[in-house]
Amino acid sequence: MAKKKQKRAKAATKKSSRKVVKLAAARKAKSGKQNGLPRPSSKPFGQDGQALTGVRILDFTHVQSGPTCTQLLGYMGADVIKVERPGVGDITRTQLRDVKGEDSLYFTMLNGNKRSITIDSKHLQGMRVLNALIKTCDVLVENFAPGALDRMGLTWEHIHKINPRMIVASVKGFGPGPYEDCKVYENVAQCAGGSASTTGFREGPPLVTGAQIGDSGTGLHLAFGIVCALHQRIRTGRGQKVLCAMQDGVLNLARVKLRDQQRLKHGPLTEYSQYGENIPFGDAVPRAGNDSGGGQPGWILKCKGWESDPDAYIYFITQAPVWGEICDLIGKSEWKADPNYATPPARLPRLKQIFASIEEWTVTKTKFEVMDICNKIDIPVGPILSMKEIAEEKSLRDTGTVVEVDHPGRGKYLTVGNPVKMSDSVTKVKRSPLLGEHTDEILKDVLGFKAAEIAEIKNSGALSAPKKEEKAA
Ligand code: COA
Repeated sequence: MAKKKQKRAKAATKKSSRKVVKLAAARKAKSGKQNGLPRPSSKPFGQDGQALTGVRILDFTHVQSGPTCTQLLGYMGADVIKVERPGVGDITRTQLRDVKGEDSLYFTMLNGNKRSITIDSKHLQGMRVLNALIKTCDVLVENFAPGALDRMGLTWEHIHKINPRMIVASVKGFGPGPYEDCKVYENVAQCAGGSASTTGFREGPPLVTGAQIGDSGTGLHLAFGIVCALHQRIRTGRGQKVLCAMQDGVLNLARVKLRDQQRLKHGPLTEYSQYGENIPFGDAVPRAGNDSGGGQPGWILKCKGWESDPDAYIYFITQAPVWGEICDLIGKSEWKADPNYATPPARLPRLKQIFASIEEWTVTKTKFEVMDICNKIDIPVGPILSMKEIAEEKSLRDTGTVVEVDHPGRGKYLTVGNPVKMSDSVTKVKRSPLLGEHTDEILKDVLGFKAAEIAEIKNSGALSAPKKEEKAA
């Protein structure tokens, strides 16, 4: 009898645990969650919001490095609220102005897809608004001089206390160390990050590059850090500090040169043309002119019209697998079997002469003709494109990499769209905001201040430029 009871009880337990499992499975199926992820969207790709939809950025950035970062986040769908000093705004609004009285291209090309609010962060009522923004935003991004944010009272401790989920992301010139208090601009970073010492011609001084690897490069690194911190927050529930030093960002982009520094201990850098020219190496990586950074020798060669067009040049790479094709193309078929030219090591000491021979061919063609001919036979070449050519290039317009936007003050201008293309997060590039354009809507719709509170804050002068007579007093 007892055995029968036991059996019945066991069967009942089995049945109920089966029921629990079934119920859980049904619940899971209903919610569609798998590994914590929702059911795959049924909306067509590109029509279910953007990658950063729902993320709100308190953008306290200025000049270039920080704005590059927040513009990218905006391109990815984040709501970017740019805080600017009343009456003044981001200093770049008036720098390098091309249209009198209007926001410069410097500003407009770095601040698309953002809203602007003016707040005096050193005003009590201004701090009230900032604190409200800190509570509602996910990320604060800043690139003030070291210590400036703390001096405003916005220390990590303060921010973390009122919003433990907030990510505080900063660009500084240098990381902790002897230079941490220095103010830094683009070219300082290029020099301190190892780029300038390795750029230029051996016989000339160090050179900075046109690409803004210190500012825009670091902004890009910071955006990556922010997105990672947002991802980590899903698991930990808390924010963190994200710091990108411009020196570090430049060094990361110049890492192949630190590679070469270490290779120097084991002998000359044979792919540098200085090796072929029998010029001894010193104890630091030299400037390599237009030598190719990788193991495939390359150089910039003249093309038809170089005498009058400063950009009539092509970058030509003598990639080993297509050496035979190169020989045939330039009329040096005999080099294919010649032991002095047949192998990459044999060619290294002769690169200068080899490129001179290739140039005798390229100079008879335009850079686009060289491009067409070489690409058909897999020889890697790159035309030196001027900014004029890039601005007019149809394919870049078609892909949204170069975008024309309309601005109420200055009219149409070109900007660089999102260089990252995603199938389910489509970027629509919007013009940069006017100074304080969205102050009212942010106070009302984002922060939920009542009309009386808005009036109180506004009347305090925290959101507007000091009146001229007050300034004088
Ligand atoms: N309300 C009131 N004051 C404001 C304000 C606001 N909305 N926004 C900024 N300020 C104040 C700051 O509090 C600071 O005041 P403080 O020095 O009295 O504390 C002041 O404006 C100036 O800020 P700062 O960052 O020092 O500007 P700067 O023009 O002197 O220096 C840089 C510019 C770029 C050199 C410096 O910000 C820097 O080194 N940044 C880090 C590195 C970097 O990003 N460099 C690349 C820039 S592209």
